[in-house]
Amino acid sequence: MNILLLGSGGRESAFASKLAQSPKLTQLYVAPGNAGTPAYGKNVNLRVTDFEGIADFVLKNDINMLIVGPEEPLVKGIHDFFLNHPDLKDIPVIGPQKEGAQLEGSKDFSKQFMIRHKIPTAAFRSFTKSELEEGLKYLETQKLPIVLKADGLAAGKGVLICETLEDARKELKAMLADAKFGEASSTVVIEEFLTGIELSVFVLTDGKSYKILPEAKDYKRIGEGDTGLNTGGMGSISPVPFADATFMKKVEDRIIIPTIEGLKKDNIPYKGFIFIGLMASESPQGKEPHVIEYNVRMGDPETESVIPRIESDLIDLFEGVANQTLSEKKLKISGKTAATVMIVAGGYPGEYLKGKPITGIENLKHSTAFHAGTELDNGVVKSNGGRVIAITSLQDNLFDAVQCATADAGRIYFDARYFRTDIGTDLMNL
Ligand code: AMP
Ligand code: GLY
Repeated sequence: MNILLLGSGGRESAFASKLAQSPKLTQLYVAPGNAGTPAYGKNVNLRVTDFEGIADFVLKNDINMLIVGPEEPLVKGIHDFFLNHPDLKDIPVIGPQKEGAQLEGSKDFSKQFMIRHKIPTAAFRSFTKSELEEGLKYLETQKLPIVLKADGLAAGKGVLICETLEDARKELKAMLADAKFGEASSTVVIEEFLTGIELSVFVLTDGKSYKILPEAKDYKRIGEGDTGLNTGGMGSISPVPFADATFMKKVEDRIIIPTIEGLKKDNIPYKGFIFIGLMASESPQGKEPHVIEYNVRMGDPETESVIPRIESDLIDLFEGVANQTLSEKKLKISGKTAATVMIVAGGYPGEYLKGKPITGIENLKHSTAFHAGTELDNGVVKSNGGRVIAITSLQDNLFDAVQCATADAGRIYFDARYFRTDIGTDLMNL
């Protein structure tokens, strides 16, 4: 089988490494890929939203399956584009159609979906530009801190946690009246602030049945001890010790089953991943899961910890998604622990420099390097983004996985590189 994988991050490197292990694979292509993906397939110089270019490539290269890594092409309707194209309509796409992708593409849509299907989530109200005054009044009735979310995609920046009423009023005005996030903030969701520990749960579905993939914890802040600015993610751990069978049963019964059934009831076809961002809140009955958000793709850097724990053939699972025979497939998960440490460019998530030569990748002892923001420049691997390389180690226990991934991250060098040395340590004494 020939496969085209869209994306260029650590997530896509992890996918590519796994796809390359499948006996079902003939040729993998990654568009646009990075300096690491040629180890698994051929890079193709195409943007992930260049639908016409992708169509042309798929037809010329006899592609049998399209796997979509990031959300943008899904929200823009790449799956629908394939279904509506006479020559592409029979080529399976892993990733939902535009309507299902609204679960990530519109916070208001996803909140309405959760309310409709009684899925636990934070209390909220949505306001449009013409409802600014009502929104400001509503803020006065709410507890602090309060969460403001731009309805649409805002490159991961559209969520603001406001500690004071003054700040919340200022930000609501900026979002609704001054289009702080452009069209994305023409509607704003004002949401109750949830406390607890965050967890990322991943589901693969063919629209009829589902498989729960390994869960993971993402470390979002730039600084040690989870301090400082939010990033795309500085590391991840899988499995997550507190997500035991009792907790995961609550997640499945209260969230996953109602989500899959809700999609069916709403007649929303869905073939792909559902990434459920959860808050596990303390209660007298133990930890209770609430949905913070849905994403319609895998997480990054969670995928770099999740994929190494999947022992089953990923292409076989994807064929199950495409043919709606996922229920017949077996998902085998390793009991080992994966830890991922993300090496970033100094300055990230603010301004940072690119084009720095990277050395030491061949010196890793116990880990795999998943390239993210890297590029090949005349045979030299150089940094080409904020998050540069993810280092993942799969070991018998959390302590060893973290030690190995962190030590191996230290073996990689480029000018002003930075990584957190405390990934997973908060989970060791729970
Ligand atoms: P998002 O951009 O939707 O991934 O949200 C970014 C981050 O904001 C989440 O990962 C949470 O850490 C935080 N967040 C979002 N909504 C809430 C909420 N209702 N309560 C507490 N934290 C939240
Ligand atoms: N790591 C969080 C995300 O992929 O959105």
